[in-house]
Amino acid sequence: MRHDHLISAAQLSRSDIETVLDRAGEVANDLGASRDSHPGLVLGLCFFEPSTRTKMSFDAAAKRLGGSTIDMGSVESSSVTKGESLADTVRVIEGYADAIVLRHPSEGAAKLASEFVHVPVINAGDGAGQHPSQTLLDLYTIREEHGLDDLTVGIMGDLKYGRTVHSLASALANFEVRQHFISPESLRLPRSVRFDLHEAGAQVREHTDLEPVLSELDVLYVTRIQRERFPDETEYRAVAGEYQIDAETLAAGPDDLTVMHPLPRVDEIAPDVDETDHASYFQQAHNGVPVRMALLEMLLENHG
Ligand code: CP
Repeated sequence: MRHDHLISAAQLSRSDIETVLDRAGEVANDLGASRDSHPGLVLGLCFFEPSTRTKMSFDAAAKRLGGSTIDMGSVESSSVTKGESLADTVRVIEGYADAIVLRHPSEGAAKLASEFVHVPVINAGDGAGQHPSQTLLDLYTIREEHGLDDLTVGIMGDLKYGRTVHSLASALANFEVRQHFISPESLRLPRSVRFDLHEAGAQVREHTDLEPVLSELDVLYVTRIQRERFPDETEYRAVAGEYQIDAETLAAGPDDLTVMHPLPRVDEIAPDVDETDHASYFQQAHNGVPVRMALLEMLLENHG
């Protein structure tokens, strides 16, 4: 993998993805041991939006590599409230850190930040845009369960605002994967994402109901309706609560169906699914640590 920054899943070739996942597999096999490949590493965590998994797993990853982290903290406690620009904020933090993990509500924020600094920037979510490190752990989880070729994946929920969906769909286009997108009409994949998938030759179909396609799926990737991205609360209420699954829904699907979710969930996966063999979303979240360790090692090696 030869990249200075990780901004979009579209950057990642099949070979890039396989290289990161292979290394993540090695890391995962020995996660209990201190890897210590990067003593002295300081990772900057800049989260302009809330996070549990992404922030904590990058924090854990840096520490398990022998490094440490510095955290901008909440927007409210930072000098962003005094009007500091994103460009100035990251230019300051590059003096304190060897790499920056950035989450921001604006699409394109990570790309912009990467143009102002000389340390690697990892996009940890830019509005409704991309979340490529999530995609790497999603692919790692899928590969562990089913491999990554000759696969049928259903992606359901908020496909319009779900950045994990945009990144995952793009990355899956590198593999022999049939992609089924299931959503209300108002939350279809954005036209630009559909266009890119078409250009990539991806095998894509869109549906408004899960039922007709459920029996074909190897993986069902469920997403939360991204309430915080709706410009209008009434629009959110019109679709909230649709596309929920429970153990009974899944009884009509394949026995080896893997159910994934980037989390956090609200009500789209009923708790009774947790007790089934289908549920992979907590393991998926746990996979964030070895995958992000591998990713950090590789970006830092590229950066020299
Ligand atoms: N999946 C994900 O990005 O979770 P967080 O918002 O908790 O980081």
